[in-house]
Amino acid sequence: MNKTLRKAVIAGNWKMNMTPSQTTALINEMKPLVADADCEVVLCVPFVDIAAAIEAAKGSNIKIGAENVHFKASGAFTGEISADMLKETGVEYVVVGHSERRQYFGETDQTVNLRSLAAIKAGLKPIICVGETLEQRELGYTETLLKYQTKMALTNVSAEELKNVVIAYEPVWAIGTGVTATADQADEGNGYVRAAIAEAYGADVAETVTIQYGGSMNAANAAELVSKVNVDGGLIGGASLKAADFSIIVKAASEQK
Ligand code: PGA
Repeated sequence: MNKTLRKAVIAGNWKMNMTPSQTTALINEMKPLVADADCEVVLCVPFVDIAAAIEAAKGSNIKIGAENVHFKASGAFTGEISADMLKETGVEYVVVGHSERRQYFGETDQTVNLRSLAAIKAGLKPIICVGETLEQRELGYTETLLKYQTKMALTNVSAEELKNVVIAYEPVWAIGTGVTATADQADEGNGYVRAAIAEAYGADVAETVTIQYGGSMNAANAAELVSKVNVDGGLIGGASLKAADFSIIVKAASEQK
């Protein structure tokens, strides 16, 4: 196990929050606070905020991401956004398969895979989310489910392409609930994801893949979570809407080597 083989990525997921003007203000507040980060800093924002976010982040170390992408290149899909459209805006990352998309918008393991492939083809870096519900955890399916979701999401993704993929382990029961997985639970879940990648691509490849933890990560618990060997940063919801909190999380990840 060698953490130095992979880059920690701290990514905010703003979900359905912030207007374009609020986006400009928040990023301007964040920029100086994260300027000396020693990890990748990403903000994934609503589609309509992307232009404002790219403009505000210009010249800084903050990368911008989207929160979803359609799997088709173009066509009659009213209301959807393609990977090429995103790429042209200057977005570098895109969240794929978030549990809220799975839960409320019919996202399946197959469409997660198709969206990931579309993102990769367009030169975007997908942040692919996997995670078990409380019921699945209590039934003892966590390992099986995480391995299944990971392998399904990565179907037809080559080892070369995997270099531009981030996986986020997000236990559904910890998202937006204030209930954080313990650092050991996070490490274990991330370890299952890494084991699935090792089964599919070999242990050497698995060692190089960035696997984040997500689910109520905040300024108070980030340092312990990111200290775990399998936890390479985080996907942050609520705490990414506050500049001070987000910058503390970025600092915690920067100090982990
Ligand atoms: P949370 O969300 O930090 O608000 O729990 C995390 C996520 O959904 O990515």
